[in-house]
Amino acid sequence: MAIEQPATRPANPRFSSGPCAKIPTFELNKLADAALGRSHRAAIGKAKLKAAIEETRELLGVPADYKIGIVPASDTGAMEMAMWSLLGARKAEMVAWESFGAGWVTDVVKQLKLDAEVKTADYGEIVDFATIDFNNDVVFTWNGTTSGVRVPNGDAIPADREGLTICDATSAAFAMDLPWDKLDVTTFSWQKVLGGEAAHGVLILSPRAVERLESYTPAWPLPKIFRMTKGGKLIEGIFTGATINTPSMLAVEDYLVALDWARSVGGLQGLIARAEANAKAVWDFCETRDWIDNLAVDAATRSNTSVCLKFTDDRIQDGAAFAKAVAKRLENEGVALDIGAYRDAPAGLRIWCGGTVETADVEAMLPWLEWAFNAEIDAQA
Ligand SMILES: Cc1ncc(COP(=O)(O)O)c(C=O)c1O
Repeated sequence: MAIEQPATRPANPRFSSGPCAKIPTFELNKLADAALGRSHRAAIGKAKLKAAIEETRELLGVPADYKIGIVPASDTGAMEMAMWSLLGARKAEMVAWESFGAGWVTDVVKQLKLDAEVKTADYGEIVDFATIDFNNDVVFTWNGTTSGVRVPNGDAIPADREGLTICDATSAAFAMDLPWDKLDVTTFSWQKVLGGEAAHGVLILSPRAVERLESYTPAWPLPKIFRMTKGGKLIEGIFTGATINTPSMLAVEDYLVALDWARSVGGLQGLIARAEANAKAVWDFCETRDWIDNLAVDAATRSNTSVCLKFTDDRIQDGAAFAKAVAKRLENEGVALDIGAYRDAPAGLRIWCGGTVETADVEAMLPWLEWAFNAEIDAQA
């Protein structure tokens, strides 16, 4: 029996979790003012890099005494730089509940070979933050992009901790409130919530993180692209736009344009509201269906950006094949691109709901999800 297709399609089928949908007003000619073919150290390039830093501060509400740097190699570059430069001074506690967090654990345990305390939870769950000793240096991911499980708030992190908190916030920044007083190192990349271009990472340091950098030298060598100090002092230039190596001025321009758009929709609170509305459309859909559910077990930890879903219908014979086939049907119809679960995550779907996605598009896509599910159940039989 042919199952009838919904009448309308999303105007934009891009629900990928990275690179994510560009801002709804994006056109290539918006980048016409980019400082292309000029030195990034010329006044014009430096001014754009500095603007990117200061506008990030303003939009995210980063305190004036925190340092913000644009660094090489995207979020991974920023996280590696932080871990290799800061860890080793005291015990490290590595906290992970999905693939990216697990990657940082591997780095610290297998590459840096630190005798770290490792705390993990399965996909869908989260580590109980009450069990973490914040007198250790604690490394964690604010939003687990591959499981759709996020830290609900920073209440469990003590203000008077002795260790540093090192937080990968790449799919959280610009979509969730980040408690800056509880975060000593925060990293993200541009291609996630703001739909920017990949290449650069943003590294945000609290005064305590800077103090550690200036007072501690790791036992291992640091490549040039990780080095943030010279002669025991922070290289201030990195945090004012004098990047360690050559940045893409096209990517910088694109980020500035995205920040502009972000202000036009109400800044951080506007972006959070957009992500919440998108995610709520998916959550509501799941609540009224008995064949699909959030991967996140506790509603308080459900991500409003990388919404991860699992199929729960008894009729499904091969979970992984089924989820893949549903995603393929949606892609073939051009109604939802790249929404299969991450390769290491449990079988299912992952629908990006960050602020660059329009709620009307999520709402137009969901009936198609129902259509694809039913069509696949039929095909299986
Ligand atoms: C939580 C998290 N950390 C790190 C990364 C890697 O980011 P990048 O590709 O910007 O290095 C991703 C990418 O999806 C992510 O979601």
